[in-house]
Amino acid sequence: MTITLLGSYDGVELIRHELKRYGLMGFNPSTVPNAFEGLIIVKGVLRITTGNHTEIVGPGSLVAMRPVEDDVCVIALEESEFIYITSFSLFTWYKEWVERFHEMATDIAKKDGYTASHCERIRRYSVMIGCELDLSAHDLISLSCGALFHDIGKVRIPDEILRKPGRLTPEEFDIMKMHTIYGRDMMNSPIHPFLHVGSAVAEQHHERYDGSGYPYGLKGDEIYLPAAIVAVVDSYDAMTSERPYQRPKSKEEAIDEIRSLRGKLYDPRVVDAFLKVVDTFE
Ligand SMILES: [Fe+2]
Repeated sequence: MTITLLGSYDGVELIRHELKRYGLMGFNPSTVPNAFEGLIIVKGVLRITTGNHTEIVGPGSLVAMRPVEDDVCVIALEESEFIYITSFSLFTWYKEWVERFHEMATDIAKKDGYTASHCERIRRYSVMIGCELDLSAHDLISLSCGALFHDIGKVRIPDEILRKPGRLTPEEFDIMKMHTIYGRDMMNSPIHPFLHVGSAVAEQHHERYDGSGYPYGLKGDEIYLPAAIVAVVDSYDAMTSERPYQRPKSKEEAIDEIRSLRGKLYDPRVVDAFLKVVDTFE
């Protein structure tokens, strides 16, 4: 997402947003009394979910929120551009946080031996499945943030375990499993005030539908649906990625494997939605 301040006067700001396909912007209920926030769509197609209600809007549309009273999630269904109007100034810290998020996601991916595009790819594919499952605005925002930072806890795992080329010993695997708990705690920390919305995804993304996952062995509906989505996407991405110790599977082999584990390791609802959208993954 690229943001540019087009103009400001007396606290009012006009901020241009350029979003790539499945880029996302989330709003929480406003804490500023009598605030006005609105979007004017310039280019592309936006999928806007307010609470549990979703609408699709195109160029020329004005979406006014005076003030924002429910969670709102804006997703670009194709490369899109809109102008965000706000009656209170926020651009300086907002831009700083957008840039910091990007740097943090890149650092996590590199620590794990992936390229910088890995986390963003997992986020985008997860959001595609979340849209297919008609998640609420809150769950879509949680999914996007949680998918981007699902492995943030790995920054606390020693490199010799994280990058060990062969199999981990049971003791090493126990340490590795802790990245889920570390991730939840880091995302709930006041150091990262906007990440708590995704902390349950970091905590539960290795839980499995049949209860065989970790850290708690949660089953079926006990697993938070956005975490169950990241479980499928993360597995698919791991299967199809080039890793130092693994030949990547073809897309077809990976899809077959995910399909064969429907209702076993993976939530059937998520696998069905995954199978509907996987052809549009790049
Ligand atoms: Fe993980």
